[in-house]
Amino acid sequence: SRRPHQIAILGTGYVGLGTAALLAHLGHHVTGIDVDVCKIEQLQRAEIPIYEPGLEKLLLSNTSQLTWTTDFSAVQQADTIFICVGTPPSADGTPDLQFLQTAVASLAPYLGRKQQIIVNKSTVPIGTGDLVVRLLEDLAPEFDASVHYVVSNPEFLREGSALEDSLYPDRIVLGGLDTALDHMISVYAPLIEQSFTPPASAPRPERYTRPAVVRTTLQSAEMIKYAANAFLALKVSFANEIAGLCEHVGADIEEVTTGIGLDSRIGHRFLQAGLGWGGSCFGKDTQGLISAGREHAYAMPILQAAIDVNARQRQMVINKLLRHLRTMKGKRIGVLGMAFKPNTDDLRDAPAYTLIQRLAELGAVVTAHDPVAMARAEREWSHLKYSSAVNAAQVFQRADAVIIATEWDEYRQLDWEALVATMRRPLIIDSRNLLRHPLTAQVEQVGRELKGTIGAAL
Ligand code: UDX
Repeated sequence: SRRPHQIAILGTGYVGLGTAALLAHLGHHVTGIDVDVCKIEQLQRAEIPIYEPGLEKLLLSNTSQLTWTTDFSAVQQADTIFICVGTPPSADGTPDLQFLQTAVASLAPYLGRKQQIIVNKSTVPIGTGDLVVRLLEDLAPEFDASVHYVVSNPEFLREGSALEDSLYPDRIVLGGLDTALDHMISVYAPLIEQSFTPPASAPRPERYTRPAVVRTTLQSAEMIKYAANAFLALKVSFANEIAGLCEHVGADIEEVTTGIGLDSRIGHRFLQAGLGWGGSCFGKDTQGLISAGREHAYAMPILQAAIDVNARQRQMVINKLLRHLRTMKGKRIGVLGMAFKPNTDDLRDAPAYTLIQRLAELGAVVTAHDPVAMARAEREWSHLKYSSAVNAAQVFQRADAVIIATEWDEYRQLDWEALVATMRRPLIIDSRNLLRHPLTAQVEQVGRELKGTIGAAL
C-alpha cells in the first residue's frame, strides 16, 4: 500500500535528522521528538543543529511533513516509531544504553491498541531488539505482542554524505517478524522503487538503480551493522599497515591500493591510507564487537589488531615530528583540520584531538584550524591546550611544522608555496596524503613520497 505513514522519530542527532529528512521526503508525516528543549526549539525555528551538507535544504523543502516536539505523547498517532538516540561507548567499551532505555520508557505509556512498529535505528548491541521487547512488556500498559513489533533497521549513512547515502543506499536491512517487515517495506516503498523526486541537492547517481532489501532476524540485522562497520575499519587499518611497510621498502601506497583495488573481489573503497579512522562509529563498533565476544569468552584478534594499527597511525605523526625536530618543547605546530573527516563538524574520536593533546603534553605550542568545526572545538575541547586560528594561513605563520589532519577540500586550494614561505621551518606532515605536488618544503606523506620534494630548508 502507498499510503503515507505517521512516523515518530526519537532522537534528533545525525541519524534522527537524516531519517526525518528522508522519510518526510518520501511523503510520510514525521514527528521528531527529543528531550533536548534547546534542539527542538532550534528545529521549530527551522535552524538545523548540526552541519551536514544538503540536510537543511531537504528539511526546509519538506516542512509541511515535519513536526518537532519534546512531547512523547506524539507517539500515540504514529504507526512507526524510530529509535535514533545515541549509544555512546561507556568506560569498558560496551555501548551505553541509558538513552535507549529512557526513550523506550518514555514512549511506552503512549503505545495504543492498533499496530505500531518500533524500529531500532541506533547502533545497539546484538540482543537489544529482544531487550526492547522485554522493556515494553514491562512498561507499556497496552503492550500486545500481536500488534506491537520491534524491528532492527540499522543505518549505514556516512556523515558528510548522509543525504546521498540515505536516498541511494546499497541495501536496506530489516530484522524482525514477517508482519513487521512487510510494514517496513511499505514505509520504504518509494525508496525501494526509487519513485520519489530526487532533491536538487542530491541528484540520483548515474549508475544507481535500486537498493537491495535484506529480510532477516533481529539478531542478524544487528550483527550486520556491526560487522559492516568493523569490516570497513579493518580495510582502512589494512591499508595503513601496508602503508607503513611501503615507507620502509620504497613502495607507493596509492599505487599499491589502486593495484589491489582493481581486483573486483577487493574493491578500491576504504583503502585510503592516512591518519586512520575516527568518528562515532568505527571505534565504538569494533570495541563493541570485541566486548560482545568477551562476554562469551570468544577472542576477536583481527578486530583488536585493526584498533591497534589505528592507534599507531596517530602516534606515527608524533614520531615523524620528533624525527625532524628532535623535541617538541617550544615548537610551534600548526594543525589543519579538526573534524574526524571532511564535510562534518563532528569531533567525536577525531585523530586531531589525540594529536593536539599529545603535542601539548610534549610542550609544543599548537595552533589549529578547521573550516567548520573550530567553534564546536572551542566548546568541546576547551580543556585542551591550543589556540584556534583565524584562518588556515595563520596555522603556517612562523610554524616549525604543519600537520594536515583532515583532508578538507579547501585545503587543496590553498596557495601552498606562499604559505610554506611564512613558516619558521618548512615541514609538512601530510597525514592524509592530500598534497599532489612537491613543495619548497619537506613533506612527509603516509606510505609514499612526493617525488621531487625539496628538503633543503632543514
Ligand atoms: C561510518 C560508516 O561508513 C557508515 O556506513 C556508518 O553508518 C557509520 O560509520 P562515518 O563514521 O560517518 O560512517 O564516516 P566514514 O566515511 O565511514 O569514515 C570513517 C573514518 O574512516 C573517518 O575518520 C575517515 O577519515 C576514515 N577513513 C575512511 C580512512 O581513513 N580511509 C578510508 O579509506 C575511508
